[in-house]
Amino acid sequence: MALAPPTKNPSQMTDAEIAQLKMPYGRILEYLKPWMGRFIFGVLIGVVAAAFNGVLIVGISLIFQLVLDGGAKTLGEPLDLPVFGQVNVAEMLGLATDTPMGLTGVIIACAFIPVLMFLNGFLEYLNKYQLAWVGNKMLFHIRSDVFRSVLRQSPAFFSHTKAGELMQTVFNQSRVAQTNAVQLVQLLTNRPLTIITILYVLFSKDWFFTLMSLVIFPLCLAPIITIGRKVRKAGSREEKEVGTMMTTMHESFTGIRLVKGYAREEYEVERFDRANAEMCKNMLRWTRAMELIGPIVEAVASIGIAAGLVYFWYQQKGSSDLIVLIMSLTKIYPPAKELSKVNLLMQKTVYAVNKVVHLLEREADIKDAPGAPELARVKGGVTFENISFGYSNEDGSKLDRAAINGIHLDLVPGKFYALVGPSGAGKSTLFSLLLRFYDPDSGRVLLDGVDIRSVTQDSVRGNIGLVSQDTFLFHDTIRENIRYGRLDATEEEIIAAAKKAHAHEFILQVQGGYDAVVGDSGCNLSGGQKQRLSIARAILRNAPILLLDEATSALDTETEKIIQEAIHVLSEGKTVIAIAHRLSTIMEADQIIVMRDGLVADKGNHEELLKSSELYQKLYSLQFHD
Ligand SMILES: Nc1ncnc2c1ncn2[C@@H]1O[C@H](COP(=O)(O)OP(=O)(O)OP(=O)(O)O)[C@@H](O)[C@H]1O
Ligand SMILES: [Mg+2]
Repeated sequence: MALAPPTKNPSQMTDAEIAQLKMPYGRILEYLKPWMGRFIFGVLIGVVAAAFNGVLIVGISLIFQLVLDGGAKTLGEPLDLPVFGQVNVAEMLGLATDTPMGLTGVIIACAFIPVLMFLNGFLEYLNKYQLAWVGNKMLFHIRSDVFRSVLRQSPAFFSHTKAGELMQTVFNQSRVAQTNAVQLVQLLTNRPLTIITILYVLFSKDWFFTLMSLVIFPLCLAPIITIGRKVRKAGSREEKEVGTMMTTMHESFTGIRLVKGYAREEYEVERFDRANAEMCKNMLRWTRAMELIGPIVEAVASIGIAAGLVYFWYQQKGSSDLIVLIMSLTKIYPPAKELSKVNLLMQKTVYAVNKVVHLLEREADIKDAPGAPELARVKGGVTFENISFGYSNEDGSKLDRAAINGIHLDLVPGKFYALVGPSGAGKSTLFSLLLRFYDPDSGRVLLDGVDIRSVTQDSVRGNIGLVSQDTFLFHDTIRENIRYGRLDATEEEIIAAAKKAHAHEFILQVQGGYDAVVGDSGCNLSGGQKQRLSIARAILRNAPILLLDEATSALDTETEKIIQEAIHVLSEGKTVIAIAHRLSTIMEADQIIVMRDGLVADKGNHEELLKSSELYQKLYSLQFHD
């Protein structure tokens, strides 16, 4: 049972290790594959949108020259366009060179401005939408796969990992990974080409002016690179704090009774606020870096504009040229600004993607043997064959003290076994081994003589019904909570199970009956009622082997009697192993197994054990004797 993950969890990495992370392109590609067509289309549209910037500038330059500075008198007036040089509109349209412009000409020319702008906007929209569409599809599958991968892990994984942090990865990190990745693709495919297109047009218009602005451009980049380096780590730190906050919230909400009972609200808020404050600090650091970039770029750009004006006065150029040049320059800076953030964005993305992939690729500690067959419905024979087992630390090393130290038990189908012993004796651990939540270090667990490691886990668990110590009910209707035992059960079967569990009567009294949502107002159930629902669930499952982990909390005699009856119904014709804390359960048992320190200390029925077992006598007088 190797607990060591394939790669280190990024949230436990040092900053230096985070900086070393590589983008797992292969994994991303896998998720991209089904949508490749649409993805390529989106990228191509991005390329077209970038090139269209050139069309836009040339077009607007033409319109401005026709209209501004007193305007052209005739369509035959030669115009000086970027890229195309000297152009004669009348010749292009096949009209006489002395065709007058007039108001109609001006209106038609100007009408092209919204048309060009609309096309420009539409292409950009299409580019963003297509890529976002692909990204969204990917996110759906990534999220779903991460959740599935987490659920596949063994209980050992969950006892070492905080639920809040898992939720943060499944929900937030996969979103960050997806949105950032989409943005990166868009930036890298569209922006460089946009800049090149505009620069090309600008160069053909006025090479000196453009060259000067190109000198200023790197000046913009210098401070960005320095800032970027300084705060690169802030992004990953922020994600860590979100994880801590999620954990605190999750623990406080699920343990609200404990929090309130000990009046620890303020204590929890303080715990929350420590991460909260740390996160705000990181956020600020991050924002400061990101937002400083814009103003710096703009300030440097305005120096360029000022210098440009001087140059224009010196060159005696018309205002249409100035407007077109400045417009083009301002169109260059946003994409340049965005490109300058790529480094920061990349860092955040690599971290998030790695965290998601780490969870995605984590092998479960307990796996089905390759090609393992299903275990058919068993008669109910259970054998623990010389089992030894110790729990592991987070790093996979074994704890010093083993929980089970060589247990050999042969349980016959259809009998009722009570498991008793002091706390920590290993009773619940034995259940976990039977359910294959863990694999024993040595020895085998057999069902009807079949090693449970040789068949699928699902089919093993399909043969086992479980009523656990802490009844867990979902925030769903009573009906669905019972149906959880067997998803294809009919309404009649659900009600029959509830009746057998002596739950039917109180369910009808709850407002809403079977449709009442557990935990909602009007449906706050008592401990005994919850237990009866979980018994109904187990009755519905109708598995040949039944595991009962009795709640230690005392029930009143009335409820105890009802539950006892329910269990009696439940156990008919089944192999039952009950961790017993109640005398009534013990009296029901065909055999009592006394456990101590991970060993079977004694076996027998009540009378025999009272005579022969010192430990049983002690347990009896302390626990079971009313
Ligand atoms: N997830 C775990 N990780 C590490 N050690 C564990 C884990 N669960 C149980 N143990 C240890 O294994 C031993 C057996 O525990 P187990 O839960 O089986 O006892 P138990 O007999 O069910 O006790 P109780 O009657 O109190 O429920 C104990 O020493 C316990 O500390
Ligand atoms: Mg226990």
